[in-house]
Amino acid sequence: MGVSLLLHNTFGIEAEASEFLEYHSEDELRHWISEGVFRRRPYFCIGQGSNLLLTRSRYDWTFLHSAIRSLEVTKESPEHVHVRVGSGVVWDDFVQYCVQNGWYGAENLSLIPGEVGAASVQNIGAYGVEVKDLIDSVETLDVQGVRRVYQASECAYVYRGSIFKSPSMKSVFVLYVNFRLSKQPHYTLDYGNVRQELEAYPEVTLENVRRVIMEIRKRKLPDPAVWGNAGSFFKNPVIPRMQYERLLALFPQIPSYDVDAERVKVPAGWLIEQAGWKGKTWGKVGVHDRQALVLINRGGASGSEVVELAEAIQKSVSERFGIDIQPEVNYL
Ligand code: EPU
Repeated sequence: MGVSLLLHNTFGIEAEASEFLEYHSEDELRHWISEGVFRRRPYFCIGQGSNLLLTRSRYDWTFLHSAIRSLEVTKESPEHVHVRVGSGVVWDDFVQYCVQNGWYGAENLSLIPGEVGAASVQNIGAYGVEVKDLIDSVETLDVQGVRRVYQASECAYVYRGSIFKSPSMKSVFVLYVNFRLSKQPHYTLDYGNVRQELEAYPEVTLENVRRVIMEIRKRKLPDPAVWGNAGSFFKNPVIPRMQYERLLALFPQIPSYDVDAERVKVPAGWLIEQAGWKGKTWGKVGVHDRQALVLINRGGASGSEVVELAEAIQKSVSERFGIDIQPEVNYL
């Protein structure tokens, strides 16, 4: 008899696993290692499954989930606070804790689904901030029982990626993430209309920035409890500036963000909307009507239906704009 993964993925896809284990501490993970859990069958470390697409209906695998939920201040100065956070802490609970304590840096990442460990693997980002900007180091244990601390500079952080996403790191589990937050006021308000929406509030405070970010997200992004989804399904593509200039001549409205002198990032949501997909239904799946970058489960969808829709969108964006968009969501 398997274990249902339905409540372990925000896409709301039904699939079965052979085994699902939790660890509440490093010792408990070491216990699973000594029990031979990692020799029995393939294994996978899962967080809240908020950036995951289950493409099969059955996994003869062991799923492991961190339930390390501690949070401790390890160092403090007038400028900064250093906090060691368990990988199983819900990401937004940590953001809320930072805001309540007057620690600056995480507020733009309010309401991102998922847990702290996965945040450090995926390098979550929103509204001009990436979690790598706040990370000092990541404490890990591998399935041989070897402990290693990766300094942020060793994590190879890039847009929605890190060293921990490479296949060779599959056997490495995040135990704790060490963050450094500012105690001095410091805001990032220049993304989109964040600054403008803040004008509705009497002053700029951590609480108000968090409120504005939460309002924007709630307006644009579907609640997984209503429509199963995994946030942005595709990454925003980075293209050569020459290609961007050619597109701009054809589509003067195309939004863009400069990456460097040679490269420009264009929003996949805009490309998908222009290709006619926004709000479209496709059997049991569909494209969200307020944010074309989000694919939704309209009820009872399988992972392969989501893959079919994603491939149809990729093909159509490629034909129309000559740009290959790649999933941000991890296929399993
Ligand atoms: N746009 C459209 N049509 C759409 C969606 C977007 O034209 O249907 C345009 C918007 O008008 C805007 C631009 O695309 O000009 C960017 O849109 P938005 O600010 O909503 O952000 P995004 O590029 O679609 C990214 C992240 C989000 C993050 C937001 C805010 C990726 C893949 N996605 O989305 O992250 O919340 O910026 O920073 O980088 C996630 O990773 O799951 C996620 C939600």
